[in-house]
Amino acid sequence: MEENKSKRLILVSNRLPFQLQEIDGTTQMVQSDGGLVTALKSYFEQPSAKNTFEEKLWVGSADFPEGRWKRYNSKKKNTEQFAIDPLFIESRVYNKYYNGFCNATLWPLFHYFPSYVVYDQDTFESYEKVNQQFAEHLLQIIQPHDTVWIHDYQLFLLPQLIRAKVPTARIGFFLHIPFPSYEVFRLLHRPWKEKIIRGLLGADLVGFHTHEYVQHFLKTVRMVLGYDHQYRAIAMEDRIVKADLFPLGVDYEKFHASAEAEEVKREREKITSNLSDKKIIFSVDRLDYTKGVTHRLQGFHRFLEKYPEWKEKVIFVLVVVPSRQIISKYNERRKLIEEEVGSINGKHSTLSWQPIIYRYNHLNFNELCALYQAADVALITPLRDGMNLVAKEFVASCADQQGVLILSELAGAANELSEALLVNPLDENELAEAISQALVMEPEVQRKKLAQMQNRLAGYNVVSWVNDFLHQLTDVKDRQEKERLKFITSAVRKEIVSDYKIANKRNLLLDYDGTLVNFTRLPQEAVPDKRLLSLLARLGEDPNTNLTIISGRDANVLESWFKNVPVNLVAEHGASIKRIGQGWIVEPNIDQEWKNVLRPTFEMFVTRCPGSFIEEKNHTLAWHYRNVDPELGFIRSRELLDSLFHLVRNVHLQVIDGNKVIEARVAGIDKGVAARKIVDENESDFILAIGDDKTDEDMFRSLEKQAITIKVGPGHSLAHYSVTSPNEVIALLHELTN
Ligand code: UDP
Ligand code: G6P
Repeated sequence: MEENKSKRLILVSNRLPFQLQEIDGTTQMVQSDGGLVTALKSYFEQPSAKNTFEEKLWVGSADFPEGRWKRYNSKKKNTEQFAIDPLFIESRVYNKYYNGFCNATLWPLFHYFPSYVVYDQDTFESYEKVNQQFAEHLLQIIQPHDTVWIHDYQLFLLPQLIRAKVPTARIGFFLHIPFPSYEVFRLLHRPWKEKIIRGLLGADLVGFHTHEYVQHFLKTVRMVLGYDHQYRAIAMEDRIVKADLFPLGVDYEKFHASAEAEEVKREREKITSNLSDKKIIFSVDRLDYTKGVTHRLQGFHRFLEKYPEWKEKVIFVLVVVPSRQIISKYNERRKLIEEEVGSINGKHSTLSWQPIIYRYNHLNFNELCALYQAADVALITPLRDGMNLVAKEFVASCADQQGVLILSELAGAANELSEALLVNPLDENELAEAISQALVMEPEVQRKKLAQMQNRLAGYNVVSWVNDFLHQLTDVKDRQEKERLKFITSAVRKEIVSDYKIANKRNLLLDYDGTLVNFTRLPQEAVPDKRLLSLLARLGEDPNTNLTIISGRDANVLESWFKNVPVNLVAEHGASIKRIGQGWIVEPNIDQEWKNVLRPTFEMFVTRCPGSFIEEKNHTLAWHYRNVDPELGFIRSRELLDSLFHLVRNVHLQVIDGNKVIEARVAGIDKGVAARKIVDENESDFILAIGDDKTDEDMFRSLEKQAITIKVGPGHSLAHYSVTSPNEVIALLHELTN
């Protein structure tokens, strides 16, 4: 974290940590609800956060009038730990953005409620406008060494809007909600989908709560924009973008220590004295259909019916915090919850007991902790939740290590809290069983489970989460810088030429398509012209140069094109090799049976994708889609890749996503192995390898230590250097022969 010292952290989220409310004639700051605010605010309040950055600024949209802010701000400029910079957005636009695209489109879709999703171009345009307004505001304040950290689904477009104007900016993005499977994400209109993914890829690091969300995102990036990834690094034209998991933590110490705070103790005593002889089940959520409150109530109802001996001995304290009240699905949910509470209480209450205490209100920190500690059971059962901090806060608050957590397996938190009683939140019988099990759990078992979970949460708290994220952001920037430095400068070119000239023996390994010639409509059209052949001949005729064309093409084509050139030919990535003056040597024992298994799938894709065709080589099946409408070709190629990955899972085959071609071939044969063979056979003190495609990466990898390796065209590569086009390669080769 050294690198971040003395610089500024600009945190950006739609929701600011505070709202300004007029209470009893004075303007007061009231904390906002939701996990995002709790997490970031508690990080900013840490003393250690002070040392890391010289200045911290939180930019967000204001849900209070500008006049009120001015009045308030003139009295008290900043909060102690960070400055607040509110954005005032015209309310008509904001409503369409917030109640429309954010919370009636993205929120239900990303939480797997596709039937709740509203598809409305108008609200999308407002979403674009608000993101644009954020960008304009930030562009006025960003300085070169600032770290900009953008949060959540309300601001998907923002990273790219900033990147477009400040290409070198250091931008992180964290998503606090689930990233859904591609099958769900693809329901968005095509332009929205592309803009969202492009927007996100404007960041340098994109963070998620779980491994599953990262995988969904990586697949979506590949399906929507075609960028591939390796070890969670997405290779874009001009840089790499990293996607990774950072499970959000809580301020463990604050919750744990709250058990000893006087105010919390007082609150706790109030609760326990009123409910002294009862077991307490507790839950608290924002009012949201994703939180599974109605299913939870049905589970509790089933429990009461199945285990009537618990009547009058148990109380369910159900707290629901008002949220997004204008949206109809939220309002409807409130009615449903209240009806269900009424019906259960109506049916099971006695003169001295009521099974559910329902509260529709916000809890302050002390009340919340008191309830966490007074509860015997926390019943946290969202139908989907990015993380769910309430579950973690409950675990952290149980200082006496007594209490049982029942947790939905569909909450991100379930990944880390596996000692909880994990339940399917839709299954009321399972909920009823879990409640009954929790109520009779031995104190020693409770202690053991809580201790294990507490250990984990204390080890990765909110400060670790922030540090982990910012540290990786710095790593990505370093990696990008290294890549940027790879472009061959004239000084490097001169050095290569001079090393070539003074070398006694040389090996030159050149890929063909995309390296020596540009791509053509059909593979057979990319014939080498006279100038290229004579250039290669000049290079190959030098007795001290061992020249090799190393290609994915098949043997016949290479032989017919280069029959008069003194060059070694490597065909089909190494399946056949022809040394100068000798015949072809074919890799023995290559079983061809696999082709019959895969061919029908390739043929099906030719039918489904007019203009595409199969090229069958000796050891390779290739499906070309260069001549297909780009959009259709791209979509079909992703589908073919997906089908092939399943087909080849248990066989010794590899599938390569090349430049407008998908190839399947036997594993273990690649340009790396072939290049090694050629180089080992011909001792040399200068090796140069040039290629453009994924298959050339094998060659770069295997020659990494001995050779000068050059990648042609954009994209992340293992090569030491890069050039932009075949023209530059030809120019370099000319320099070598002059
Ligand atoms: N919270 C609160 N007062 C309340 C209810 C909730 O401060 O009355 C806080 C709670 O401590 C937690 C956050 O709101 O930190 C809720 O986060 P969670 O991830 O559980 O759900 P979200 O609301 O973000 O979907
Ligand atoms: C979730 C979202 C946050 C949001 C919070 C409260 O935690 O991930 O981005 O701020 O809910 O919702 P609200 O709509 O009130 O901001």
